Amino acid sequence: MPVYIVLLGPPGVGKGTQAKIIAERKSLPHVSSGDLFRENIKNETALGKSAQAFINKGELVPDDVTIGMIRDRLSRPDCAGGALLDGFPRTTVQAEALERLLAEFGGKVNYVPFITAADSTLVERLSGRWTCKAQGHVFHEKHNPPQKAGVCDLDGSELYQRDDDKAETVVRRIQVYFTQTAPLIAFYRERGLLTEIDGARPIDVVTADLLTVLGK
Ligand code: AP5
Ligand code: MG
Repeated sequence: MPVYIVLLGPPGVGKGTQAKIIAERKSLPHVSSGDLFRENIKNETALGKSAQAFINKGELVPDDVTIGMIRDRLSRPDCAGGALLDGFPRTTVQAEALERLLAEFGGKVNYVPFITAADSTLVERLSGRWTCKAQGHVFHEKHNPPQKAGVCDLDGSELYQRDDDKAETVVRRIQVYFTQTAPLIAFYRERGLLTEIDGARPIDVVTADLLTVLGK
């Protein structure tokens, strides 16, 4: 039976950071909707072109586009054993679509770790974030600096600051999270799947808690 994990939490809380570590430890593919959109934007695909304006404003990409993209990704052979979902679902419509999709694959959402931190922490993390161009590895200039400024420790590619990490866009992304994504907390709590994790602690401490929740 495949295993599907949904990492829930606001922008900047550390979903991507943790997902990279946990996916490797659990031998699951890391499926990040944000990374998939950025890859499409980089490759100038039709999907990337339709998503870019929404992302730059800090708004959500429409559900139909997002659900179609995730359906394609989860249908690939490397997801046969499940996946670690990061940034999807982000609306109730997406969560319901995911339930139907996983049922088609003979699976369901098994765990929903919900990572939390104060808004001020989110803003501070996003404004100091540096992302790797090749594979989306993330660093922080203060909390998790690369060994050499501007260069990814893991694959040597260039680090950049995301366009949507500008102060005004960050504020909008956090607002959008509270209005459109926060209803998923109740959605998954009602299904007995949600476990809250304090994301305001060091990266390795959060990882240890996640591994406990996921049964090592
Ligand atoms: P997406 O890329 O998913 O962005 P996000 O949800 O805003 O989350 P982030 O990637 O900003 O934060 P994160 O939680 O991954 O934190 P990270 O690990 O990087 O989405 C971007 C956009 O795409 C959306 O705004 C939307 O437009 C669109 N989109 C995506 N999915 C969609 C969907 N399903 N539906 C519709 N639209 C969608 O960490 C942040 C920083 O903190 C880093 O610098 C890191 O080094 C540092 N850090 C991490 N953990 C710690 C720690 N414990 N202590 C100290 N520093 C830490
Ligand atoms: Mg991320």
